[in-house]
Amino acid sequence: MSQNIKDVEHYFIQPDLKAAKRRGKEKVQVLDFEQIPEDMRGVGAGKKYMIRTYGCQMNVHDSETIAGMLEQMGYEETEEERQADVILFNTCAIRENAEDKVFGGIGRMKNLKLENPDLILGVCGCMSQEEAVVNRILQKHQHVDLIFGTHNIHRVPHLLRNALLSKEMVIEVWSKEGDIVENIPKVRQDGLKAWVNIMYGCDKFCTYCIVPYTRGKERSRRPQDVLDEVRHLARLGYQEVTLLGQNVNAYGKDFSDISYTFGDLMDEVRQIGIPRVRFTTSHPRDFDNHLIDVLAKGGNLVEHIHLPAQSGNTQILKMMARKYTREKYLDLVERMKAAIPNVVLTTDIIVGFPGETDEQFEDTLSLMREVEYDSAFTFIYSPREGTPAAKMKDDIPMEVKKERLQRLNRLQEEISLRKNQALQGHVVEVLVEGESKKNEEVLSGRTRSNKLVNFVAPKSLIGKMTYVKITTPKTWSLDGEWVGEVEALHG
Ligand code: 5AD
Ligand code: SF4
Repeated sequence: MSQNIKDVEHYFIQPDLKAAKRRGKEKVQVLDFEQIPEDMRGVGAGKKYMIRTYGCQMNVHDSETIAGMLEQMGYEETEEERQADVILFNTCAIRENAEDKVFGGIGRMKNLKLENPDLILGVCGCMSQEEAVVNRILQKHQHVDLIFGTHNIHRVPHLLRNALLSKEMVIEVWSKEGDIVENIPKVRQDGLKAWVNIMYGCDKFCTYCIVPYTRGKERSRRPQDVLDEVRHLARLGYQEVTLLGQNVNAYGKDFSDISYTFGDLMDEVRQIGIPRVRFTTSHPRDFDNHLIDVLAKGGNLVEHIHLPAQSGNTQILKMMARKYTREKYLDLVERMKAAIPNVVLTTDIIVGFPGETDEQFEDTLSLMREVEYDSAFTFIYSPREGTPAAKMKDDIPMEVKKERLQRLNRLQEEISLRKNQALQGHVVEVLVEGESKKNEEVLSGRTRSNKLVNFVAPKSLIGKMTYVKITTPKTWSLDGEWVGEVEALHG
């Protein structure tokens, strides 16, 4: 590389959770990605990278963006740690066990780094935005070369340059509210299903959640940018897009020049010739009737809504600052069920929130029974430093929390099985993803409601839509018989 070490500006910008909490009035800037700097364009020629991704779909998609920049610098992907010249940990901060996994992974890199001192080891994603994490890396994991956060992903070429040239750990974590950077190159991991960001950040500040601190304020991409991206994916032959945001129902609330909501966006995406459109994740509070009406139009908008409830008890919901009651949530569910035939509802639930009593937990069980979710992600509450709930008195023993989680899971399994059994003998539309993980003679794919279906059929169906008759419903998946191939249903 032509650049001299002394020319390199050294970066040492550490996170600040207090600053991350502020929400000012500044306008969100939509910036265009500057090209990869000239001196970085061939840097990765003959070299390999590996990204270990933890956590949610937002992270999965961020990794695709980071990969896009690395590949424009000439790096190629590898699955083999030992072959990698750059290894990045794209991390998740949502619960303590997610963080423990990452620290375990980073610790294991020490030996690799001894074997290959030229290896660049980086940490990015939500954990990088936390002061305590960066301090722990500085104290205990000096073999890390680079730390960057969620707001400056577009700076990867510059940061990598500095990490390559500097002997010190390069740290650049911004705690600003965040802007939007368009046109960063991406390498999508899959040719069938694509993630599309529609908004970034979260302003809800649920009291247990670290995300508003790690991802900045709510800011929506311009409708035209989203629609252009979806049209482009349709032209490339993608069969499914998932519109992504921490709280997609707040889409557009930050526009000052136009009045445009998530329902409006879905209504326009509906007219694009891509067979399936999903979205995740939604917040019951902002879910309006206009959106329900648009979803009820069906077509490529699939009849699956992930609607995190978190708890079925109004008092706990209040302490969580969810801003809805059990009754309001149930009313929303009723409106969805009435408007959207065969709607499939799934949810996220936290048990063991500080002070949750047995009776309050029973309300969550009864909510589950009443709504009849097809599936649920269930979690034991995990205190996150810097959030209001972490300061609340919590005298519920871990044993009790674990027992509650088990009861909740058992109930959900019963409901999931019952829901799947109702599909016995029905013919469902399946997007064929590939060979089943367990048996290569079997194909597997997903229904419109995202249920896993296994069936025997020609391999040539991979990547296509087809129809399958359900013969053996199980708790987590459906076995079926292939009934025929169809051309793409739409577009
Ligand atoms: N502890 C446990 N679960 C949490 N979630 C978010 N924060 C926490 C926490 N501190 C769960 C919520 C959210 C999902 C993505 O993770 O259920 O919807
Ligand atoms: Fe976290 Fe609540 Fe925002 Fe979801 S809506 S990311 S749970 S603060």
